[in-house]
Amino acid sequence: MTAGGLTPPAGSVSDAPVLQMIGVTKTFGGVQALRDVDFDLAPGEIHGLVGENGAGKSTMMKIIAGVYHGFEGEMRVDGRPVHLRSPADALAAGIGMVHQELSIVPDLTVAENVFLGVQPIMAGGVVDWGRMKREARTQLASLGLDIDPSTRIGSLPVGLQQLIELSRVLFSGAKIIILDEPTSALSPPEVARLFDALRRLRAQGRTIVFISHFLDDVVDISDRVTVFRNGSKVITERTSALTKDSIIAHMIGRGAADMHMGESTELSGDDSRAVVLSATGLSDGQMIRDISIKLRRGEITGVYGFMGCGQVELARALFGKGKLTSGDIKLDGETVSFRSTATARRAGIGYVPENRRMMLFRTEPMYKNVSIAILDKIDRFFLRPSRERAITEGHIKDLQIRPPLPNIALGNLSGGNQQKVALAKWLTEIPKVLILSEPTRGMDVGAKEDVIRIVRSLRDRGVAVLVLSTEPETILTLADRVTVLKRGVVAREFSSGHIDKADLLAAA
Ligand SMILES: Nc1ncnc2c1ncn2[C@@H]1O[C@H](COP(=O)(O)OP(=O)(O)O)[C@@H](O)[C@H]1O
Ligand SMILES: [Mg+2]
Repeated sequence: MTAGGLTPPAGSVSDAPVLQMIGVTKTFGGVQALRDVDFDLAPGEIHGLVGENGAGKSTMMKIIAGVYHGFEGEMRVDGRPVHLRSPADALAAGIGMVHQELSIVPDLTVAENVFLGVQPIMAGGVVDWGRMKREARTQLASLGLDIDPSTRIGSLPVGLQQLIELSRVLFSGAKIIILDEPTSALSPPEVARLFDALRRLRAQGRTIVFISHFLDDVVDISDRVTVFRNGSKVITERTSALTKDSIIAHMIGRGAADMHMGESTELSGDDSRAVVLSATGLSDGQMIRDISIKLRRGEITGVYGFMGCGQVELARALFGKGKLTSGDIKLDGETVSFRSTATARRAGIGYVPENRRMMLFRTEPMYKNVSIAILDKIDRFFLRPSRERAITEGHIKDLQIRPPLPNIALGNLSGGNQQKVALAKWLTEIPKVLILSEPTRGMDVGAKEDVIRIVRSLRDRGVAVLVLSTEPETILTLADRVTVLKRGVVAREFSSGHIDKADLLAAA
């Protein structure tokens, strides 16, 4: 926990700010990402920045790091106005940022990635490989990593890649270091090592901005916390004056919990319903550890967690993709081992992944995409396009797919309508288990409502539905019971009673 009481944090907040952002407004097209926001950083502090997805955190940090230079407002470093034109300008001003998206180059070695763009050069313009490897090894060792710097980085687990990427900025000499969701793919021991490194940097007087959804981590590591909501700053406060719950209340806005659809729900998990699929102790040696989950007939089980919590890997494991190092999956009481997605599908498991493009054939007509799930059942030689089209026409009506043309190439439909097509194939051959990753993400309201209606109707027809989402609203709208994943393990299960967004955020 943060030291309260007698010992002040290494950076006393009363020091003159090292960075001030004054009245910052930033719009993208019609979207106002930041609205008149003031934000400042003290020397030698770790400053936590939190807020729901879309609150404006990354936008503010990208302005500070010189990525975006068109904005209203003022930026001052050490009290002097600055006008950054590029990330290189920002680095020259002592500001370095690790972006949310990994920017490692998978085919280069660990050492080359650590020194990306700043390789030590010997006389004559030759890269000093020996020095690069030695220094890379030292830097990584200080993060507790014993990695051969000549290893190709793409061959390492994602958590290690993320730490290596962090080390590049941590040891760049920047006096302001911005970390945008750096711990999403890290295991608890890796997080602990990162935090040790951050505390050492703070002791050297560096300033660190730490953006994270993991509020326990934020409370643990930060001296001060700023909360953004919907493009505005809600509060900046000493961490010792905050709790996880008070931070959540600032993030979602007090009193909002009962006012909007999808902000809360009454769960109706029913343990007397037959278990269709039961997974026990699933581990893949990397992203998921000892996950157990039961899917019941006629119920929607929601799996909630932040990006990188293991949802994707869990869904893939249940559908016969991805390797498991241990665990057991039973379908209707019998142990199954799907060696391919085709075997899983034949056993009655349907899957619509988060990246729909992987599952759909964009240049093929809509009706072919709908009938794909039944091709195994119908003799391919005798499958007549007229019959395929007839099946599709029924679904187009049910699902209100627009435009209602079976022959239209799938790629010409909007994202929401493509999602309906992805669901439509599971209406033709009703599966026992239907796994849906992010079923409504990025859809307009109308398409969302259609998808919600379809998923509920499949549930009411007895399908055991699994909905995985990083959006609390999706889970609270659809789920009858909820499992919360955190860093690859089951953190909490809710099966009955009232839950709201704050419960999900607090558990994850
Ligand atoms: N490059 C961009 N183009 C258009 N809209 C953007 C861009 N970057 C961010 N936005 C929008 O600005 C808002 C804030 O986004 P962001 O700063 O990424 O939030 P956060 O990091 O808190 O999740 C969101 O509505 C997002 O969709
Ligand atoms: Mg962001």
